[in-house]
Amino acid sequence: LLVYLELVTLCVVFTVFTGSSAVTPVFVQKGKDVTLDVMTDGFHEDDIVLWRFNINSILVRYIPGKEPVVSDVYTGRVEFPQKKYSVTLKNLQESDSGVYTAQLIGSAEVQIVAEHKVTVQVSPVKLTVDSVSSSSDSCNLTVTCSTQDSDITSRVTCDTTTCHQEGGERSKVTTSGASLRLYLVNSTINCNHSNQVSWTNDTNEIGQVCPQLTGKNQKQNNKLTAMLSGINQTSSVSN
Ligand SMILES: *[C@@H]1O[C@H](CO)[C@@H](O)[C@H](O)[C@H]1NC(C)=O
Ligand SMILES: *[C@@H]1O[C@H](CO)[C@@H](O)[C@H](O)[C@H]1NC(C)=O
Ligand SMILES: *[C@@H]1O[C@H](CO)[C@@H](O)[C@H](O)[C@H]1NC(C)=O
Ligand SMILES: *[C@@H]1O[C@H](CO)[C@@H](O)[C@H](O)[C@H]1NC(C)=O
Ligand SMILES: *[C@@H]1O[C@H](CO)[C@@H](O)[C@H](O)[C@H]1NC(C)=O
Repeated sequence: LLVYLELVTLCVVFTVFTGSSAVTPVFVQKGKDVTLDVMTDGFHEDDIVLWRFNINSILVRYIPGKEPVVSDVYTGRVEFPQKKYSVTLKNLQESDSGVYTAQLIGSAEVQIVAEHKVTVQVSPVKLTVDSVSSSSDSCNLTVTCSTQDSDITSRVTCDTTTCHQEGGERSKVTTSGASLRLYLVNSTINCNHSNQVSWTNDTNEIGQVCPQLTGKNQKQNNKLTAMLSGINQTSSVSN
């Protein structure tokens, strides 16, 4: 019997992987709650219902005649709304993105009665310029890229034509498992907050805080930079 049950479970898992049933996409902002419903009313008193996350981890087990059992990792994060077999998962984090399935184990059959693909979107980022120190031929700034639960600070030095990020690109994995990157592309500072399913960004043009870097200068390549180094600061670079 155990072997048989295993086989049935495998078949069900296989069905989930092949995506034959309708998967409901759900988008949730980080920190918010989501309620997951089952999509059938044909239950029997002795049915067992399992809510699974990404197939192999179990959130909640409904056993006939007992209170629903919440798995240790989800303790305190699950609530039960009125609707039978529905679950509310609270305070979603990026790592909660994935597929939630409700599996009904009846006396004669096992079936999937709900399948929701939950996408937890990363929180927005903000790029701020903390300080600028500027002279006629150089401009240095300190920038911070911050998000809800993490931040990165970096120093950028510029001459009149090019900018350089001290220590190169900076990155960090946030407590919620997303990645935060602060990097320079020519004279644009970029900050990108991303996880497997979504990303947000903020950018800053250094030319806006450092007048030494004119729009034209930013486009010059290194060869031109060398040629231009003889030209004085107040003159504009004209062809
Ligand atoms: C900017 O930083 C560079 C290198 O650290 C330094 O040589 C230059 O004097 C600095 N310029 C200003 C205006 O602080
Ligand atoms: C941000 O990072 C993600 C993941 O690496 C990437 O897919 C996306 O294109 C990046 N966005 C920008 C604007 O660079
Ligand atoms: C995010 O990145 C895209 C692509 O590089 C850019 O077009 C957009 O302006 C950026 N968003 C912000 C808020 O800077
Ligand atoms: C950065 O500068 C290089 C050479 O100066 C240029 O080829 C490239 O298109 C620039 N990239 C962006 C994103 O502006
Ligand atoms: C610098 O450029 C300006 C504008 O082109 C010009 O009037 C000035 O004489 C130049 N100064 C020097 C020292 O070359």
